[in-house]
Amino acid sequence: MSDLAPMRTEHTLARVEHDGRSVTLHWSDGRQSRFPALWLRDNCPCPQCRHTQALERTFTFIDHGRPRVTAARIDAEGVLEVEFQSGNSGTHRSRYTRGWLRSYDCSAEAIAARRPQLRLWDAGINQTLPVVQYEDYMGTDAGMRAWIEAIQCDGIVLLRGVPARPGELLHVGRRIGPIRPTNFGDHYDVVSMPNPNASAYTAMGLELHTDLANWHSPPDVQLLFCLKSSVKGGESMFADGFKVAEDLRVQDPEAFRLLSTHPMEFRFHDDACDIRFSAPAIALDPAGNITRIRFNNWLRAPLVLPEHLLEPMYAALESFWRLFRDPRYHLNLRLDPGCLIAYNNNRVLHGRASFDPTSGERHLQGCYLSFEDLESQLRLLDRANA
Ligand code: OGA
Ligand code: ZN
Ligand code: ZN
Repeated sequence: MSDLAPMRTEHTLARVEHDGRSVTLHWSDGRQSRFPALWLRDNCPCPQCRHTQALERTFTFIDHGRPRVTAARIDAEGVLEVEFQSGNSGTHRSRYTRGWLRSYDCSAEAIAARRPQLRLWDAGINQTLPVVQYEDYMGTDAGMRAWIEAIQCDGIVLLRGVPARPGELLHVGRRIGPIRPTNFGDHYDVVSMPNPNASAYTAMGLELHTDLANWHSPPDVQLLFCLKSSVKGGESMFADGFKVAEDLRVQDPEAFRLLSTHPMEFRFHDDACDIRFSAPAIALDPAGNITRIRFNNWLRAPLVLPEHLLEPMYAALESFWRLFRDPRYHLNLRLDPGCLIAYNNNRVLHGRASFDPTSGERHLQGCYLSFEDLESQLRLLDRANA
């Protein structure tokens, strides 16, 4: 089989039937899955169809004519065996494990079950915020898994007990994968400075926002690590943008429609760059699920839309923004030295209260990670346990 680790399922194959054009599997739990002949032939895992070392596909279906299934059976080990016949390449026999078949099952139930289960939240999360200890995260599979799963599911997780040393943030990030660099560097220091090129580097309050809304693909996961926080003020605030947008969809459908249909531009520029991108504030997938929020008032560029849409878009944005200001949605938190908060920057908005830079010190460090690497680490953990 062409996977580095076996795929497992508790379910067995009770029966198989075919009509030449497709194979139908009857599972022990009553599920039926039907696979077209071409789909099965295309995914044959045998050494003639996959590179034996790289395990990547070498079979090119367009060169082999349309296959027909001439036989299908379940062998003594519960593996599906299929025999194909096709015009220009004769007979081919393929074998598929039930774990593999189950994990690529295209039945409606299987597709629905695979959809990521998000836990949308409001202010109730103040009592239930996922917390992981640094030692567990750095030292154990279970700790790293809990951290990744919280980001996937809740969109946010607090790591406690991180040694309050500059750069420790990068050790935490690199346990997952490469740090994603931006125009602010591979990581950045959030301190109030004399000639700031960004609002974050002042002592101003920052309203809830997503970072780098001016990028084609804003970074997936933001890590913010507190080294010093003796100033008055500077408390953090977060809100689940997916939850707020879902509520907007119900409460003000026209605002939701405008914000998810028409682009707005975001822009950052300084001496070294001028980075702009236009996209709807609420991105949807073809099924209407929310996939990304872009919300950042200081990066928002002038709206450029047909004239009749300018005022309605302001009304829509106001409606969304007013919801974000509602404390019913807020997670409030003071980051103390050794706290590292990580969140899905395309879902969870973050902000901070203003602070008095003369009253003490405040020093955070930030960086970004990509979902590819979080997901890959989870699969590696699953592989190790397979
Ligand atoms: C940022 C930011 C929040 C803070 O750096 O992107 O929003 O608490 N900082 O300083
Ligand atoms: Zn093959
Ligand atoms: Zn920010």
